[in-house]
Amino acid sequence: MLGNFSYSNPTKLYFGENSLDNLRTELSGYGKNILLVYGGGSIKKNGIYDKVVEILKACGKEIFEDAGVMPNPTVEKLYEGCRRAKDGNVDLILAVGGGSVCDYAKAVSVSAYCEEDPWEKYYLRMEDVDNKIIPVGCILTMVGTGSEMNGGSVITNHAAKLKIGHVFGDNVFPKFSILNPVFTYTLPKYQMAAGFFDIMSHILEQYFSGTDDNTSDYIMEGLLKSLIHSSKIAVNDPTNYEARSNIMWIATWALNTLVAKGKSTDWMVHMIGQSVGAFTDATHGMTLSAISIPYYEFIMPYGLQKFKRYAINVWNVSPEGKTDEEIAGEGLTRMEAYMKEIGLVMSMKELGVTEDMLDGIAKGSFILEGGYKVLTHGEIVSILKESMR
Ligand code: NZQ
Ligand code: ZN
Repeated sequence: MLGNFSYSNPTKLYFGENSLDNLRTELSGYGKNILLVYGGGSIKKNGIYDKVVEILKACGKEIFEDAGVMPNPTVEKLYEGCRRAKDGNVDLILAVGGGSVCDYAKAVSVSAYCEEDPWEKYYLRMEDVDNKIIPVGCILTMVGTGSEMNGGSVITNHAAKLKIGHVFGDNVFPKFSILNPVFTYTLPKYQMAAGFFDIMSHILEQYFSGTDDNTSDYIMEGLLKSLIHSSKIAVNDPTNYEARSNIMWIATWALNTLVAKGKSTDWMVHMIGQSVGAFTDATHGMTLSAISIPYYEFIMPYGLQKFKRYAINVWNVSPEGKTDEEIAGEGLTRMEAYMKEIGLVMSMKELGVTEDMLDGIAKGSFILEGGYKVLTHGEIVSILKESMR
C-alpha cells in the first residue's frame, strides 16, 4: 500500500543533442557573476569548456572559475569554494561535470553564507539550511548519481575517515540541468561502467524494501530492464546514442525522488560503499559493485519473496520446478554474470581495501533500518570479508 506523500521536483531539465542551446535562456534569469565549477580538466579536453565559456561571454557574464573539483569532493575543497563564491559575490553556480561537481556546487551553494562550519552543520548534524542559498545550474558530463535532479550532496572528510551525504530539500535542487548524452561519450570505460552500476544500485536500494504491492516497484523493474539492455550495448559501442541517451534518462529517474515516494527503502549498500570511499577514495560505483553481491546474498533469506520476484521479472528466471530459494539465487547469479560482463569491480581488494580496515569501514557505515534486515556491526564486517574474495 502506498504511504502518504507529497511530490514535486523543481529542477527544469533540457535533454538531447541540442540541449546546451537552452543555456542562454536560463542565464537571463540570473545576475552577472557566475561561478563556473568543474573537475580535473576533462571538459577542457573534450571541448565542453569552450562551448560553455563562449555562451557565458556572449551573455555578458563575469566568470569566476573554481576548477579542480576531485572525484569524491573533500571538505577542504568545499571551504575553498565558499571563499570563491563569497569573494565573487556570485549570482549562480554553474556546475559542469559529473556527480562530484554537481554535489560540490550544491554544497557551496548552502555553505558560502553559512556562519558555522558547514561540515558540522550540514554533514555531521544534518541540519536544515537557514541561510542564503546561491542557485545552482548543472551541465552533466557523467551519468550515474542523479545529482542533476535531486538535493543530494556527498562530501568526504579524509581526516575523520567519513564520507557523508546530505539530502537537501527542494530549495537546493539544481534550478536547471542540461543533459546532452553526447557529452558523456568521452568518459573512460571504467567511469562509464561505474556510473551504470551506480544507477542499478540506486534502483535496487529502493526496490529491496517492503512487502507491499507498490507501483514504484513495477516502475523500477522497467527501469532496470532498460538499463541492463542499454548498458550491454554501450560498453561495446560507447557512441551509440540510443543506448547512451536511454541510460542518461534512467539515471535521472532512478534518483530524482519519484520511485521512493510512498514506499520504504534500504540504502545499506550505499552506506557501506561510502565508508569504503572514505578509507580508499575509490570510485563510488565500484565500491557499490564490490559490496552488492555479498550484501544481497546475506539479506536474501529475509526478503525472499522480493528476491524471487526480482529474479523472474528482471532476470527472466524460469520458476518451473524450482524452490523459492533456487529462483532467487539464480537471479543473483545472473546479476553477477551481468556485472562481470560490463566490467565492474567485484572485489574490495581491487579497490585497495585491506583486512585491517574492515572494522573501521563497518564503524563508518551508518546503519539504516528500512531494509529486510537491520545489520549489526558484526554482520557488516562479515559481509565486507565476503567482498574481499
Ligand atoms: O574531473 P574530470 O577531469 O572532469 O574527470 C571526471 C572524473 O575523473 C571524469 N569525467 C566526468 N565526465 C567526463 C569525464 N571524463 C571524460 N569525459 C567526460 N565527459 O569522471 C571522473 C568521475 O567523475 P565524478 O563526478 O566523480 O563521478 P560521479 O558522477 O560518479 O560522481 C561521484 C560522486 O557523487 C556522489 C558519490 O558519492 C561521489 O562523491 N553521489 C551523489 C549522489 C547524489 N547527489 O544523489 C548519489 C550517489 O549515490 C553518490 O553517492
Ligand atoms: Zn550512488
